Amino acid sequence: MKKFVWQDDNGESIDQAIMEFLAGEDVVLDRELFPFDIDATAAHVRGLSRIGIMSAEESASLCQLLEQLKTEFEAGDFVLDDRYEDGHSAIEMYLTDRVGDTGAKVHTGRSRNDQVAVATRLFLRDSLQKLAGLCARLAQACLERAELQADVPMPGYTHLQRAVPSSVGLWMGGFAEAFSDNLAFTRSVLEIVDCSPLGTAAGYGVNLPLDRDGVASDLGFERLQVNPLYTQNSRGKFEVMALQAASHAMQDLRRLAWDLSLFTTSEFGFVTLPRQYITGSSIMPNKANPDVVELLRGRAATVDAAVVEIQSVLSLPSGYQRDLQLTKAPLIRGVNSALQALAIAPALVEGLQLNEEKMRESISLEMFLTDMAQAKAAMGIPFRTAYLEAKQAADDAGEMDAAASLAERVSPGACGDLQLGRIRSRLEQQIQALGKAESGD
Ligand code: ARG
Repeated sequence: MKKFVWQDDNGESIDQAIMEFLAGEDVVLDRELFPFDIDATAAHVRGLSRIGIMSAEESASLCQLLEQLKTEFEAGDFVLDDRYEDGHSAIEMYLTDRVGDTGAKVHTGRSRNDQVAVATRLFLRDSLQKLAGLCARLAQACLERAELQADVPMPGYTHLQRAVPSSVGLWMGGFAEAFSDNLAFTRSVLEIVDCSPLGTAAGYGVNLPLDRDGVASDLGFERLQVNPLYTQNSRGKFEVMALQAASHAMQDLRRLAWDLSLFTTSEFGFVTLPRQYITGSSIMPNKANPDVVELLRGRAATVDAAVVEIQSVLSLPSGYQRDLQLTKAPLIRGVNSALQALAIAPALVEGLQLNEEKMRESISLEMFLTDMAQAKAAMGIPFRTAYLEAKQAADDAGEMDAAASLAERVSPGACGDLQLGRIRSRLEQQIQALGKAESGD
């Protein structure tokens, strides 16, 4: 029979169906948080020994057992399953099974609310660091592509209708700037989230002089989250922020994936995807399908759904409520889904083959009329007149040169003056700041 950390010995048995309802998939989801929970437990133990709640020997033996638990868990020798109510209780049981009362001291001055808050916080920090790194890589891949084929002409569309001549530099440079923004956004969420909730117990503190600051720096947090009640109230809120950072990246990835799925059709024929990103059809021998690109597009839905699911749980009063457990599944699903998708995107961008001929051919004569109107207006003709004159000239426009048109588009940021260097230097600044934050300088 399962025994719970909070259960006394009055012999009352617990209804199996109710227990399954309480623990449910939670204990399985806790596998994701388990190593973080173990690290935070060790930091808590060291903190307790600093304030004399346990001896240095006790602390050392518990930390060594915690290390051992982590190794066993990572090797698959310790399985976190429904023998436990959750990962938090499992840690305490592991210790008490081995060193009895010394193990039972681990929960002095903390609660499971503390544990789940700090383990989730470490997971969020780790995930946001990975997200930032992936935004940086993707921005770099798009920028390199933009620089490599900066002046290669391609049609520019509005309403999916041919609009004006554009270039690969302009198309890909846009994604580079977008992912650079997503990197900046992720860093700002990281700055908010990088604070230690540990040492707030159930949300109201404890009657012990816990070394909260020492524990926070032991775990590498930037600062302390001061208010104990807010540490509980920020559960879910910080998850949403992290998922929103992921969502911004995924929405840009969705747009890129959309462009690629259009541009790979025979009708466009601008792009050939790298071999590994193409799948076949089980029935149609002729097919080469962009399934990976479509799933990259679709994954944004998983992330956005996670945001909505968590926000729906958060209609709560102050303090810990068990409802909060339901934020865990969407968080883990949403974050992992985004990270997996973003991780395979840079090589996709690097491996794209662009059919320059096809892109050039698709720039038709009417697409030069905007340039023509602007050129007339620049000579002093009122723009409305210039616009009409250009429209009338449409039929006898003759041969037009895309490269020349692009070179003349000198408004800053446009094809004749892409200023990719500015996008690059902002990106490099962001990457440098990220590296500094990670190395703790
Ligand atoms: N599985 C729980 C959660 O995720 C752990 C915290 C339990 N705390 C409590 N007071 N029952 O929220």
